[in-house]
Amino acid sequence: MFTKSLVAAGASLLAAVSSVSAADSAASFSYGTPNPTRAGVVATSTNGPTNPDSPKLGTAINQTSVARLLSVNSIDDWCTFASPNGESIADVEGEVVAYCTQARNNARVIPDGTLTAVHFITTPLYVQVMALGDFTKIGLQAGDEGGELDPHGATGLGNPVGGNVTSNISGSDVFYEEWMNYVAYNEICIRICIAGTSIAPTALECQHTLDEMGCEWVMPGSYTDNVFESCDADAAWPPGLFSVDGSTSTFQQYYSSVYTDGNGGKHTFVNGSPDQSTPAAAYSKPSSSSCTTISTISNGIASLVSGSSSSSSSSSSASSSMSTSTSKAAGAASSGSSAAASATASAGSAASSSTSGASGLAVGALAASVAGLIAAAAML
Ligand SMILES: *[C@@H]1O[C@H](CO)[C@@H](O)[C@H](O)[C@H]1NC(C)=O
Ligand SMILES: *[C@@H]1O[C@H](CO)[C@@H](O)[C@H](O)[C@H]1NC(C)=O
Ligand SMILES: *[C@@H]1O[C@H](CO)[C@@H](O)[C@H](O)[C@H]1NC(C)=O
Repeated sequence: MFTKSLVAAGASLLAAVSSVSAADSAASFSYGTPNPTRAGVVATSTNGPTNPDSPKLGTAINQTSVARLLSVNSIDDWCTFASPNGESIADVEGEVVAYCTQARNNARVIPDGTLTAVHFITTPLYVQVMALGDFTKIGLQAGDEGGELDPHGATGLGNPVGGNVTSNISGSDVFYEEWMNYVAYNEICIRICIAGTSIAPTALECQHTLDEMGCEWVMPGSYTDNVFESCDADAAWPPGLFSVDGSTSTFQQYYSSVYTDGNGGKHTFVNGSPDQSTPAAAYSKPSSSSCTTISTISNGIASLVSGSSSSSSSSSSASSSMSTSTSKAAGAASSGSSAAASATASAGSAASSSTSGASGLAVGALAASVAGLIAAAAML
């Protein structure tokens, strides 16, 4: 969750670092053996009250639905949360509703013509969608830098309250406990954690507290516009964890941020060490393989397209915004190849307003930092 002021802070932070992107050659993440039945993988508590009991294709089209069940199955069968009535999404994170590429889950449907790119990846630890387009067609305000949805939120009941997620990537529909969904007017990303390990429990691999950083930092992968592709991929390093000195040590990214509690109170939290500058990009962009490319995806539901509010050029609006550095979600979009370590001075100083934490954690200490991150995540 974040507030408008936090978005503004994130945007100025990213403005300074937007020319740097993830290194392709960094050490891959050694996470152990993925376990799809480990605690924290499969959801164990109640499904949201506005959701169908199970995910279903072919439900009635209802563009005022308040169903909040996302399914993320394939490049052309996935859902995202977005504003119910055109609100600034940061103001309605508790009330966002599901929009799906197909008629399913009693949810709203994403009209054809909204999406200009979709990248779907399947990894041993998660499935992930990275999508570009004109999301004013699903309730976002033009220029809205976005919101961050997750299963925790101010009430602990999820953002949105009653939001749940499934995937059938394992071969059958499963409700999963940990996920994150970043939504801006021009870019959306969703990660659902489908397996965990002791090194990468789901709450760490779907660690959602870095809500200033945007899709490309938190969920690295391909965000190339005008491409619709489905790939297998390696699992990324958990958001905010970086390897230094090859595989011999790790450290937790230093950051400070502000969250707003359920009563409107503002709290600062700090992780890592101030002598480590904030990395400018995700630690690495995981390699992908077995890609299948298609020309586009569509559901063919004509009534949605003609009924949509705007027919302005989605692809030009998306691509021009991708080249600016003012959007939270698109902030790190440029495709330079500098190493993640070359953070800028201003990014470091933006994050150095208070002190705490350990640097240069040994690999054995990763579990401890994991516990800290999960504790931080639980607050949000
Ligand atoms: C629904 O979401 C809540 C809040 O994140 C979670 O506690 C619960 O386990 C989920 N239930 C299902 C069936 O997914
Ligand atoms: C659409 O969803 C809204 C909100 O749940 C509900 O009030 C309305 O009756 C639904 N419309 C139809 C035609 O089912
Ligand atoms: C998942 O659901 C889709 C329908 O969207 C279906 O075509 C596909 O076969 C299912 N995949 C698995 C692995 O069951």
